Amino acid sequence: EKGGFDSFMEKEIHEQPAAVRDTLLGRLDEKGNLTLDELKIDDSVLRSINKIIVVACGTAAYAGHVARYAIEHWCRIPTEVELAHEFRYRDPIVDEKTLVVALSQSGETMDTLMAVRHAQEQGAKVVSICNTNGSTLPREADAALYTHAGPEIAVASTKAFLSQIAAAYLLGLYLAQLRGNMYKDEVRGILQELQQMPEKIQAVIDGEQQVKDLGTSMKDAKSVLFLGRHVGFPVALEGALKLKEIAYLHAEGFAAGELKHGPIALVEEGQPIFVIVPSPNGRDSLHAKVVSTIQEVRARGAVTIVIAEEGDTAVEEHADHIIRIPASPSLLQPLLATVPLQIFSCAVAHAKGYDVDQPRNLAKSVTVE
Ligand code: BG6
Repeated sequence: EKGGFDSFMEKEIHEQPAAVRDTLLGRLDEKGNLTLDELKIDDSVLRSINKIIVVACGTAAYAGHVARYAIEHWCRIPTEVELAHEFRYRDPIVDEKTLVVALSQSGETMDTLMAVRHAQEQGAKVVSICNTNGSTLPREADAALYTHAGPEIAVASTKAFLSQIAAAYLLGLYLAQLRGNMYKDEVRGILQELQQMPEKIQAVIDGEQQVKDLGTSMKDAKSVLFLGRHVGFPVALEGALKLKEIAYLHAEGFAAGELKHGPIALVEEGQPIFVIVPSPNGRDSLHAKVVSTIQEVRARGAVTIVIAEEGDTAVEEHADHIIRIPASPSLLQPLLATVPLQIFSCAVAHAKGYDVDQPRNLAKSVTVE
């Protein structure tokens, strides 16, 4: 049942190219327009939306953070991400012009359901991005976009996370197309890039042995830090969460730019730090800034594990270890950069002899508030 793998988590990591491919499947109509037939909310309503709030918990919330960068960039709609259990307690400003996007693998997370009910009471429309057919969340939402990751057994989410990100990209592109923020050709161009992602994810998985060896060699680390910027920031948070969840190791993710405002005080000799490096071809000067972050932490004794695009030579002199990922458009990079972090935490947990699929104290879905 584990398909020859030691754990469901490993099996599910390997299923990610298919999970993303299946989530993207059949989204173009005969005219080459992106279609989301399931999105049963009137176009007029979707055109009038002036705010999006993404609600979710755990890993799904980090997918929400990635979604925010993409949706704001493509649709120019102010977008917030809120942990579902915090949402209603801050008396959020929600009305008929708010679109709430609820992300959940199980569709049964009570905190997320309660957030959605609260939003609906205020008149908001809710789209759910969910992996479980017929579960409560998509039934209660105004529209349901399904991820097609297949059943996820391991408690720590992997393929559901990548599929949630893929589905959120589709939603963002659809809204941008509908609202006229993007031309048809632009949307199609990004869709084409998206369609190449499963193959690129596979390429990252094919390089897993290097990452596994690294995980095994670092099994006695006391703490691991993760740094990223822009969409690399939620990837850093997710990398840290995975390590906490299954390897019971202290781990933190930071926005790389925040480092000098506090966390750099943590860095001492031998501290392992993962750095997710944006594409050197991306916008702004982000790449150069992240490279200088690597330099700063290394100068203070950190062992740097750098996740960088193939061909990015600027990182070489500052990296103790380099994990290569294929080049991709900046916004899509999380689909690749997350994968080595999943493989790493899985390897650390295996090396420590832990049950990767059933980590202590955690449940696959939490159906109480
Ligand atoms: C947690 C799970 O309890 O719930 C996490 O352990 C998961 O893995 C989170 O990310 C949210 O779950 P769901 O089903 O709403 O995506």
